[in-house]
Amino acid sequence: MTSTTTRYVGAIDQGTTSSRCMIFADDGSVVAVDQREHEQIFPRPGWVEHNATEIWSKVQAVIAGALAKAGLRASDLSALGITNQRETTVLWERSTGRPVHNAIVWQDTRTASLCTRLGGDEGPDRFRETSGLPLASYFSGPKAMWLLENVPGLRERAEAGEIAFGTMDSWLIWNLTGGPHGGVHATDVTNASRTMLMDLRSQSWAPHVMEAMGLPEMMLPEIRSSSEVYGEAVGQLAGVPVASALGDQQAAVFGQTCFGEGEAKNTYGTGSFLLLNTGERPVASKSGLITTMGYRLGEAPPVYCLEGSIAITGALVQWFRDQLGIIREAADIEPLAESVEDNGGAYIVPAFSGLFAPYWRSDARGVVTGLTRYVTKAHLARAVLEATSWQTREVVDAMYEDSGVRISSLKVDGGMTANGLLMQHQADVLDVPVIRPVIAETTCLGAAYAAGLATGVWSGLDELRAHWRQDAEWRPDMPADRRDREYRNWKKAVRRSFGWVE
Ligand code: G3P
Repeated sequence: MTSTTTRYVGAIDQGTTSSRCMIFADDGSVVAVDQREHEQIFPRPGWVEHNATEIWSKVQAVIAGALAKAGLRASDLSALGITNQRETTVLWERSTGRPVHNAIVWQDTRTASLCTRLGGDEGPDRFRETSGLPLASYFSGPKAMWLLENVPGLRERAEAGEIAFGTMDSWLIWNLTGGPHGGVHATDVTNASRTMLMDLRSQSWAPHVMEAMGLPEMMLPEIRSSSEVYGEAVGQLAGVPVASALGDQQAAVFGQTCFGEGEAKNTYGTGSFLLLNTGERPVASKSGLITTMGYRLGEAPPVYCLEGSIAITGALVQWFRDQLGIIREAADIEPLAESVEDNGGAYIVPAFSGLFAPYWRSDARGVVTGLTRYVTKAHLARAVLEATSWQTREVVDAMYEDSGVRISSLKVDGGMTANGLLMQHQADVLDVPVIRPVIAETTCLGAAYAAGLATGVWSGLDELRAHWRQDAEWRPDMPADRRDREYRNWKKAVRRSFGWVE
């Protein structure tokens, strides 16, 4: 039974493999969830695309699904928040709202040589001072540049003001607020900070970067804060204020209530992303991390983060299931891996999109090392899971080198945290406790929190902090000599992944 005094906030998480709508009550509890996958399109090795129109219909379907499961109407929602896979880039026609090409996904490596060209004599750090990011195929600006260079006639149309650029937040805000013929064209500071086109300090578009990439400013959305009313929804959510947008990893920071400088979280999704709140100052990385916006709430000063981005973690389990067919369901990996004591000497480095933090090697490709006839599919299942925890260990080390902060525990969230074997291995290789909150789907929660703050559902950060509850904790239990030996093996395997692409 729902009480009439309870207020509800909806959140859409438009992720890499699926879209989800969750509805939260004002005590932070989950009322309903609906989720649908969308197609992963692989036109060539290293290329990954999504159909943005399909994504919009899946988003509409999950909104309807969540409302039906909750037994609520749109008018029961005080606000709607948006969180999304970051960097994935879509260009659409302003007059029809139709995408001009499939969206180019963050994992797509087609812009690697274009990034080398853009770096020129200055190399990959040419725009790091402005944007906080190295030139890498991961980010949106070069993806938009590739589209203008490769879709016939598109550059002329963009220069004539006919084309809009967006990451998935902008695509959803546009469709939610105006339908196909034009809603609000906006993004938030966190998503904008993943384009390479935004100046981190002023949070405005950086003309010299846009010029270098040949992107006309009139394509770009307006940069707004992460928590404010962008506009009212039309259609099935008519009248509901669309009141937050955050990249999914920043939303998880918010949902984990890592509001203080020095607080960190790691989210295990398609990839894994460890973010450390560095307060109101951007910290430059010397160890392969990136500097990014954490969030900005209305007119308040922005909060920055250092981020360790790992491209492939959960996606490796998917690959093991779908491309190799070794397991039927993702959850089957845990009992299979548990059936053996260790990895049998095998390591899998999932450099499917090159390697992100801390290496930023677009020439890397996946490798399996240490194979002997002894190795079974169970050992490989273990190696799949361990790839996630070793990659996380590498970004935790880099975080320490950059900030001097040695984490004393790690707050975790995301789908893979349901895997107890992985979480135990994570605690073992970091040698700190790993802690999961009751609501492990913190991305939606963070978007809901930011939307509820903008519309008066919640009074402030202290009220949100009081909602956080611990659900599970894994304590380290691996002898130091074994940890050190296996870490050396992992690093040796990583070196084998370099240099596969000219
Ligand atoms: O930067 C990419 C990231 O936002 C994707 O997140 O959870 O969809 O893998 P996820």
